[in-house]
Formats: sequence, C-alpha cells, structure tokens
Amino acid sequence: MFFDIIRSRRSIRHYLAQPVEREKVEQLLEAALRAPSGKGIYPWEFLVVDQPELLQKMVRCKKNGSNFIQEAPLAIVVCADPAQSDTWIEDAAVATAFMTLAAEAMDLGSCWVQIRGRESAAGGSSESFLRELLNIPERLAVLCCLVVGYPAEQKAPREITEHKLQKVHHDTV
Ligand SMILES: Cc1cc2nc3c(=O)[nH]c(=O)nc-3n(C[C@H](O)[C@H](O)[C@H](O)COP(=O)(O)O)c2cc1C
Repeated sequence: MFFDIIRSRRSIRHYLAQPVEREKVEQLLEAALRAPSGKGIYPWEFLVVDQPELLQKMVRCKKNGSNFIQEAPLAIVVCADPAQSDTWIEDAAVATAFMTLAAEAMDLGSCWVQIRGRESAAGGSSESFLRELLNIPERLAVLCCLVVGYPAEQKAPREITEHKLQKVHHDTV
C-alpha cells in the first residue's frame, strides 16, 4: 500500500550484485514521466546508465557521497533543459522523488546523488564531469543521479518524532 511504501523508503547505499530487470527500469521511468511538472512542460530527460565501466567511473562525479555507485547495477541521471522552463529544478526533483517511491514499491533500494552545485573528485563541477563522461549536451542541466539496485542493507523506517512534528504549522506560524 502507498503508506507502507512512504514509511519504509530509506536511502540505500549497498546493493546486491544483481541486475535490475528491464521491466522494472521501465516502471521507474514511467513513474518519473508521470510526475507533475510546472505548466505541464516536462523539461526533463533521463539517462539510464547500466554499463559497469561507466558506473565505476561515475564514482568520481563527486568528492563525497558517491562512492557507493561502484556497487550499483543502475543509475538514472536526471537532467532537464532550463531554457524550456524556470521550474526545471522542481520538475526534475519531483520526478526523482517519484522514482524513489517506485523503486521502494518494487523492492529496490535507491539513493539520490546530488550533482547540481557540487564538485567532482577532480575539482571541476560534478555536472561537467558527467557531461563529459556520458556525452550530455550543453542544453541539459544535471540535477542528480538516482542510484538503484536490490538492497544489501536493511534500514528501519525513520521515526516521525515530536521534533519533526514541530515542522508542521496550522493556519499561522
Ligand atoms: C536533494 C538531496 C540530495 C542528496 N544528495 C545525496 C548525495 O549526494 N549522496 C548521498 O549519499 N545521499 C544523498 N541524499 C540522500 C540523503 O542523505 C537522505 O535522503 C537523508 O539522509 C535521509 O535519509 P533517508 O533517505 O534514508 O530517509 C540526498 C537527498 C536529497 C533529497
């Protein structure tokens, strides 16, 4: 059920050496393509990476927080064309969030790797690193990569504590 998926989803950074079936990849992409988008423009493009040599090289797309890509069988690079829409960041983020939930629904683990505004291990931008490695054209900006695979770690659902409930206000702050 939907709320079980919402509750159990965690960022998974260890994966089994097991490929993600093509039908599941298609369903992840369907979830992304069905996400809402400002003015219905859908400025996003998704790049599915499953070649082990490329995934290995992608580890260096960031200084930190990307090492686990080397374990993963799949990464979906989420790009968008800023010239098409001023809500490209929001659109691409919502599509990514939809994919995290779709992954959970199919017993896959996933983790967002932030690319926009980050630096690669070599010192340039994470975006230009991926642009060169994956031949991403200049017209596309890169928001993030969603790294996906069958989980090799279990994580308990996060608690919604009193502290977190203080983030919610009613009528006025
Ligand atoms: C915008 C954004 C950027 C993130 N960037 C990274 C990242 O670069 N590397 C990483 O390991 N996790 C990244 N994460 C995952 C967060 O660390 C994770 O969602 C957070 O710690 C909460 O844990 P949970 O997803 O298990 O609930 C990112 C998540 C979001 C939403």
